[in-house]
Amino acid sequence: MARFFQAKKKTQLNTKHQLFTIEKLDHHGAGIAYQNRKPVFIEGGLPGEQVLAQLTESKSKYARANLIKVQKASEQRVEPICAYYQECGGCNMQHLDIESQRAYKQQTLSQLMAKFAGQSIDPEAPVVGPQQGYRRRTRISIKLNKRTQQMEFGFRKKHSQEIVTVDACPILDLELSQLIAPLHKLLQSFANQQRLGHVELVKGDNTKVIVLRHLKSLTESEQQLLQQFAEQHQATLYLMPQAEQLHRVVGERPYYQESGVTIPFEPNNFIQVNQSVNHGMVSQALAWLELKPQDRVLDLFCGLGNFSLPLAQSVSQVVGVEGVDEMVNKASANARLNHVENARFYQANLEQDVSGLPWTAEKFDKILLDPARAGASGIIDQVASLGAHRVVYVSCNPATLARDSQSLLKQGFKLQKLGMLDMFPHTSHLESMALFVKD
Ligand SMILES: C[S@@+](CC[C@H](N)C(=O)[O-])C[C@H]1O[C@@H](n2cnc3c(N)ncnc32)[C@H](O)[C@@H]1O
Repeated sequence: MARFFQAKKKTQLNTKHQLFTIEKLDHHGAGIAYQNRKPVFIEGGLPGEQVLAQLTESKSKYARANLIKVQKASEQRVEPICAYYQECGGCNMQHLDIESQRAYKQQTLSQLMAKFAGQSIDPEAPVVGPQQGYRRRTRISIKLNKRTQQMEFGFRKKHSQEIVTVDACPILDLELSQLIAPLHKLLQSFANQQRLGHVELVKGDNTKVIVLRHLKSLTESEQQLLQQFAEQHQATLYLMPQAEQLHRVVGERPYYQESGVTIPFEPNNFIQVNQSVNHGMVSQALAWLELKPQDRVLDLFCGLGNFSLPLAQSVSQVVGVEGVDEMVNKASANARLNHVENARFYQANLEQDVSGLPWTAEKFDKILLDPARAGASGIIDQVASLGAHRVVYVSCNPATLARDSQSLLKQGFKLQKLGMLDMFPHTSHLESMALFVKD
């Protein structure tokens, strides 16, 4: 019998305000309520709360709703620290007190590891730092509002390409935050603002850095005004006429110090965003590795040597491997600057087959991995064959940590310690560290 196409009946979304009871938080910090056993994700809702919300999407397996009003508030609910919190896409957890944020992240980490790596373990005490003024870098978007002809200068709105103009940011380093309003004012005085791409603010131990990405040339007088601004605010000014092309106009090249070493960097290089937690993280990694003077240590995804150079002070040899050539050269230069003679650095794409590369023929007692969000799927299966019996995995994505842990467990490692690093307070980003040991 011939079958004819039949369009699926569209069920109408019930957009009336409805009462929901939030039962838990998902892994991105949104509240989850249940309606006829179907999870309804409601951003801004906290466990135990009754909220009025309006459905925005309803699929067969889940629904989403916008929070309209909190009817019965959780005891953990607090006033957000930022005036732009409801609009700005930068933070999503300011409505939860900081201790509960940390407990939630610890729990998320443990649950993910138990579920995917199959090993339940009580987490160590988290590494924490200040909950405000902790970010040492940010990118500020610039857009000319065609309707108002005003320059928008700030951060992306939640779930939107639009920009919320801000004059301060409480999670940003205070000295950087204080640059936002005067810099906005200065750039607003420029003609043809469509030439302006974005601004990056970065804090070194010795200077504040302002990077202006511009798409077409600036005039002489605009350059002079920017230079005067940087000098007046004791800042370093870089212009970026093309992606990744940086010209330092005035001010010192930035550096930061970590565990007795000095690490100069360019503003487009990766540096850990939270200096205080970075310090706690490096110390904890070194402690968990139980370093011995005769140890040979491999630091994978080593960047500028943030772990490698502190490591080299306690062991016989460190080999650092990193994908970006420029960072590898900088890591080597940073070793020379700090008179570190027992660290060598190599470039490699750790997503690809690394067999045959010179460092893979060496044996290491211990390995530290600190990959980007994608994790370390390319190299993780080779960890045991590199000789290591102790591995510290630093992760900014618990899902890829849990996935890569499965490989380490198959190679005979046991998960011995697990801990959360509160690198990004007031957001649901979760940094963590795991220690794997093999007899
Ligand atoms: C989270 S950062 C850590 C850097 C350094 N460990 C630190 O603490 O500053 C991850 C590093 O991995 C590098 N990376 C990303 N993908 C890579 C790949 N496929 N192969 C090698 N390195 C990679 C990045 O350039 C970056 O420097």
